[in-house]
Amino acid sequence: MSSEHLITGETRIAGIFGDPVAHSLSPLMHNAAYAEQDLDWAYVPFHVVPERLASAVAAVGALNLAGVNVTIPHKVAIVPHLHEVDQSARLIGAVNTVVNRNGALIGYNTDGAGFSQSLRMEAGFEAAGKRVLLVGAGGAARAIGVQLALEAAQQVDVANRTLDRATALTAFLTKELGVTSRPYALEDLTPATTEPYDLIVHTTSWGMEPNAAVPPLLMPTALHAHTLVADIVYTPQDTSLLQAARERGCAVLAGLGMLVYQAALAYELWTGRGAPVDVMYNVLREQLAQRNGSMARG
Ligand code: ATR
Repeated sequence: MSSEHLITGETRIAGIFGDPVAHSLSPLMHNAAYAEQDLDWAYVPFHVVPERLASAVAAVGALNLAGVNVTIPHKVAIVPHLHEVDQSARLIGAVNTVVNRNGALIGYNTDGAGFSQSLRMEAGFEAAGKRVLLVGAGGAARAIGVQLALEAAQQVDVANRTLDRATALTAFLTKELGVTSRPYALEDLTPATTEPYDLIVHTTSWGMEPNAAVPPLLMPTALHAHTLVADIVYTPQDTSLLQAARERGCAVLAGLGMLVYQAALAYELWTGRGAPVDVMYNVLREQLAQRNGSMARG
């Protein structure tokens, strides 16, 4: 299909609601996947400001869109506008994918499941029975914590700069999902406290600047070779945390996989087909390399 693809009366339309949305990588991934599978679909970025969210959601039904992804700042705010919300999106309290099922708008959250799919496919890691430490207590940590608890992780602890937010997330995970979950202030992480974990997931925005130092409280001495270390930051793809973890002998998981698999799961919800994950990966890598090149040129 590629560049020959004509939009016709039959073309199904999906898209993404965000503010801003211009830098979203989702149109690239989804359109490349449609082209690969020769689907008469198109994926469009929609710049939706918060005041217009309600009318934008109504338009999904009115225009008979197949569905939309939802990104900053709408993931939580969209929930009351939907007809139904699936179990993990309800627990996470946020939706990143809306499916228009014959006029009924159903909310899903594929962020946590995308992370766990990346864990499984790229690191061969199954969460069941494992001990996990989440670093950070924001929306991303909540999505991942809920998913890993749903998959029967034995323990999901949370370390955060602001202890109160760690405490709130661990109390929630214990109450709603029945998983053992303990809070830490970041500065209380020591080589001894991090020893038991099978998996450490870094979910804060710390380290997104190229060459940023390892988060001080995840110093290399707090990383143990038996621990898989995942960073959900994907710019840069090889963060200073992952480099330090590798030097300590840890297996590592980079953040790009979560981005690809959350998109792949949304694609599957809409089209009913398995997503061409390799194709989605390739366009992302190419685009990120181009962006880095143009940043380097100033
Ligand atoms: P997201 O939805 O991407 O998870 P968020 O809800 O804004 O974003 O959460 C950001 C997370 O990154 C929080 O855990 C935040 O810590 P606080 O709760 O203490 O604010 C963490 N974070 C952001 N900048 C940080 C920094 N410089 N050092 C440590 N933690 C940081």
